[in-house]
Amino acid sequence: MIRLNHVVKAFPSGSLAIKDVSFHVPKGEFLFLTGHSGAGKSTLLKLLYAELRPTSGDVRVGGHLVHSLKGDEIPRLRRRLGIVFQDFRLLEDRTAHENVAFALEVTGARRDTIPARVTRVLTQVGLASKARAYPRELSGGEQQRVAIARALVNDPAILLADEPTGNLDQRATRGVFQLLRDINAGGTVVVMATHDLALVSEVSYRTIEMKDGAVVHDSSQGPAPELP
Ligand SMILES: Nc1ncnc2c1ncn2[C@@H]1O[C@H](COP(=O)(O)OP(=O)(O)O)[C@@H](O)[C@H]1O
Ligand SMILES: [Mg+2]
Repeated sequence: MIRLNHVVKAFPSGSLAIKDVSFHVPKGEFLFLTGHSGAGKSTLLKLLYAELRPTSGDVRVGGHLVHSLKGDEIPRLRRRLGIVFQDFRLLEDRTAHENVAFALEVTGARRDTIPARVTRVLTQVGLASKARAYPRELSGGEQQRVAIARALVNDPAILLADEPTGNLDQRATRGVFQLLRDINAGGTVVVMATHDLALVSEVSYRTIEMKDGAVVHDSSQGPAPELP
């Protein structure tokens, strides 16, 4: 579903954010991307959703070579991905329902199908009863659930989440993480960047640890080296 081959990303400033990263994410996987702040997690995700182009190397998502997409192929790729951020990025002047509906409207979905599809995903994330609430009327955990509903409404094969629990308390973190696990159990590939190692240690999902732009450990290649 996702394949990186010798990917390098250098910024014009000269900073080398990704240094020769290669890995493959098969169908069905839940993958954690871990590493300290500045390790390159967000940059890697941006390469996957074509916000950034690699300086060299190949990024393939769902069979497409991301850097050779042009024009309207990039929005088409993004429609096949769901993307969730730490800061939710909801439209403040729209209700939960309208925020999710907007993601369908911009993709040209048939108008008469939109309400039912929105209700279906809001129900899936446990927020059917808050459909008419504005973001400011929702807790952080609820806002993130709306953002996840918005990410799911186009039935993506892959969900990318950049520190989705970074702004949430323990309880909301649990709820959002369980929701991401349920989404993965339904067959969606989930790639979640996080530095919450307590969360990572609770489950046995594949974990790729980055440091200074490089992969320093991939749990699919064997156990982590013993600490000295
Ligand atoms: N737009 C940019 N221009 C220059 N350097 C950047 C840019 N975005 C990120 N970087 C640098 O790339 C490195 C990786 O950043 P980032 O991917 O945000 O790490 P993480 O998400 O793991 O905290 C950092 O050194 C950061 O300063
Ligand atoms: Mg980041």
